Amino acid sequence: MKLVTYSTGLFNIAYYVCKHGMELDNITKDLLRQKIEEDPDFEPGLTLLAVDEKDKPLGFIMGVIRKRKNGKTGYIKLLAVLKNFRRRGIATQLYSAIEKEMRKRKVKVIRVYESYPNYFMPGVDPFYTEAVCFFERNGFTKFNDCSNLKADLVKQDFNTEKEERKLRAGGISIKRATKKDFEPMIKWIRRNFAAWEPEVRAAFENKPISLHIAKKDGKIIAFSAHETNNRGTGWFGPMGTSKAARGKGIGGVLLKRCLKDLKNAGFKSSIIPWVGPIPFYMHYVNSKVERVFWRYQKVLKN
Ligand SMILES: CC(C)(COP(=O)(O)OP(=O)(O)OC[C@H]1O[C@@H](n2cnc3c(N)ncnc32)[C@H](O)[C@@H]1OP(=O)(O)O)[C@@H](O)C(=O)NCCC(=O)NCCS
Repeated sequence: MKLVTYSTGLFNIAYYVCKHGMELDNITKDLLRQKIEEDPDFEPGLTLLAVDEKDKPLGFIMGVIRKRKNGKTGYIKLLAVLKNFRRRGIATQLYSAIEKEMRKRKVKVIRVYESYPNYFMPGVDPFYTEAVCFFERNGFTKFNDCSNLKADLVKQDFNTEKEERKLRAGGISIKRATKKDFEPMIKWIRRNFAAWEPEVRAAFENKPISLHIAKKDGKIIAFSAHETNNRGTGWFGPMGTSKAARGKGIGGVLLKRCLKDLKNAGFKSSIIPWVGPIPFYMHYVNSKVERVFWRYQKVLKN
């Protein structure tokens, strides 16, 4: 077994390992490309394949390092070993190489999968129980959990006319963002939810722009977006309402507008990831918990 540094020519091998090694997921080539080469922090040196002496695929790992407020955070963004080759230390070798490099680069903490804004899943799905065992064995501790909700898009029509009329009477207008809204939106998101700026930027790249905003007195007070991560899967979010504007039903309308877009684009269901306020989503769009994720981290003491 040897470790090989990823390059574009090895994409199909990485795809083969992810497709067959992540049995609870249905990863497509397009999605994997988004995760690997479209990640602004993608580094071939942190993306490795394990192959046998005939260069046949065995395993794959992708790490990324992001600059966060408290310093550099490392992420194991993707990891899989083909079923027939498990429990032979392949993931250990892949992971050790990444941890060694991250230590060299003064990474303070490593987390699993939740490499926002470009991430595949917000943590370890415990039904990948081997992964739970693997990360605990490698010194990770669970610090939180979260869930992805699923909203049905077939039975609901997401009509918001009535609610919007009511809001309009109170001076609040809701619309799909246009190019002209880009600058004010970026300024607003920096002040209110800075971590979501890359996802907001991504929404403005989509056609049509996959972001809706609420305004009062010409000023943005809330937004919702979709297809900003894991494009092609019906991925909702992020969304946020400024503190002073909460409790007026604005979020519900914005949420429904995004789900209506996804419905019109042909999706049968939407994923509302990394939640958060489950009752809010259940109330407005009857979304149910679909998957849970355990969040793991390892603090590196250099
Ligand atoms: C998780 C995964 C990558 C582990 O790969 P692997 O090559 O089998 O891992 P290793 O052989 O290096 O295992 C190292 C240690 O992890 C733990 N571990 C791994 N698989 C385990 C299992 N089935 N049962 C118990 N412990 C396990 C053990 O402590 C093991 O050490 P040991 O064999 O000396 O006891 C692999 O099971 C996999 O691809 N799973 C599906 C995809 C996945 O879960 N990806 C991560 C999603 S967050």
